[in-house]
Amino acid sequence: MSNLRIATIIGARPQFVKAAPLSLEIANTAGIEEISIHTGQHYDANMSDVFFSDLALPRPAYNLGISGGSHGKMTGEMLAAIETILTEQAPDAVLVYGDTNSTLAGGLAAAKLNIPVIHVEAGLRSFNRKMPEEINRVMVDHVSALLFCPTSTSVENLAREGITKGVHQVGDLMFDATLTLTPIAEEQSKLLEELDLSPSGYCAATLHRADNTASPEAIEKALRYMVQHSDGKEVVIPLHPRTRHAAERFNISVERDGIRVVEPLGYIDMIKLAKNAALIFTDSGGLQKEAYFHGVPCVTLRSETEWIETVTSGWNRLWSEGSYAPRTDIAEYGDGSSAKTIVNIIKDWSA
Ligand code: UD1
Repeated sequence: MSNLRIATIIGARPQFVKAAPLSLEIANTAGIEEISIHTGQHYDANMSDVFFSDLALPRPAYNLGISGGSHGKMTGEMLAAIETILTEQAPDAVLVYGDTNSTLAGGLAAAKLNIPVIHVEAGLRSFNRKMPEEINRVMVDHVSALLFCPTSTSVENLAREGITKGVHQVGDLMFDATLTLTPIAEEQSKLLEELDLSPSGYCAATLHRADNTASPEAIEKALRYMVQHSDGKEVVIPLHPRTRHAAERFNISVERDGIRVVEPLGYIDMIKLAKNAALIFTDSGGLQKEAYFHGVPCVTLRSETEWIETVTSGWNRLWSEGSYAPRTDIAEYGDGSSAKTIVNIIKDWSA
C-alpha cells in the first residue's frame, strides 16, 4: 500500500513549536509521510530560522515567502500559492495548526480542492469576532474533516456549532514540546547570565496582539499596567516586530523605567526566560499555557482568553480581573503524548 501523504502548512512561531513533536512522530511512523510548506508569514532569522534549529525541525519542502501587508492580501496570496502546490502534489490531506492567516489560507486552499483538512488545536474560541484569529479558527473548524481539540471546552465549543464528526480530544502538543525541550533549555541556554537576571528576580512579558498595538494609548496602557503590577521587578520583554514597528510609528519608547527590551528569542531561550520568571505578562495564547507548564503565574493582557482552564485553575488571570481563582492542576493538557495520539488517529482514519 502507498504511503499516506500529508501536506502541512506552517508560517508563524507557535506553529513551528507545535510542528516539532508532530513532524518527528510522523517521520518515525511507517506508512505516512509529510510535505511541509512554510508560508513565510514569519521570516526574520529570530522569528523563523532559529526555531528550526532549536526544535530540530526539518527544513520545509517549500517556503512561499509571503508576509506582511493587509490580512486579506496576505491570506489571498497564500491561498493562491498553496493551491498551486497542492494541485501539483495532490496530498491525501492537509494539516494546519492553530489560528493564523497561514492556517486559514491552508485550510481554505485544501477545502476548495476537496482535500480533507486536519485542524490541530481545533475548537478554541475567545468569542471575540474582532480578533483576526477568531475568524481564522472558526472558518477552518467548519471546513475540517479531522479536528484535534486540546481540551473538553474546545470539544464543547465545536458541538455548540454543530461540529461533532471527526472531533478528538488529544491533549496539548505544546506540552509535548515543553516536556522535551525544558531540560535542554535549562542546560543549554545562557540567557540569564547574558542578561544578568536571577531566577524569580524578574517578570517576563510578550505583547503583540492587534488590539494591544493598534494605538499609542493601547501600547501605553499595557506598558503602564506591567510596571504597576510587577512588584517592583524588572519586566523583560522580547519585542515582537509588530510591536517594535508600531512603537516607532507612534514615537513611543517601550524601554523605560521598569521595562527592559530584548530582541525576539529563540525557543530554547524563551523557555529559559519563562521558566525562571516570577510572573509572566502576555497576550499570546501559547505563553499562557507555558506559564502553567513551568509553574509560573500569568496575567493575560486581554479581556478574554480561549485557554479558559488556565484561568479557572488559578494559574492565569485576565488583567480585567483583580485576583486568581484557587489553584488546581490541569489534567487535560495530557501527558506529553499528544503527537503519538494524533498520528494514530490519522492512520486509523485513513485506513
Ligand atoms: C501572528 C498571528 C497570531 C500569532 C502570532 C505569533 C495572524 C492573524 N496572527 O501574529 O495569531 O499569535 O503570529 O507570533 O496570523 N514581522 C516582521 N518579521 C517577522 C514576522 C513579522 O517584521 O519575522 C512583521 C510583519 O511584517 C507584520 C507584523 O510583524 O508587519 C505582524 O506580523 P504578522 O505575521 O502579520 O502577525 P503577528 O502579529 O506575528
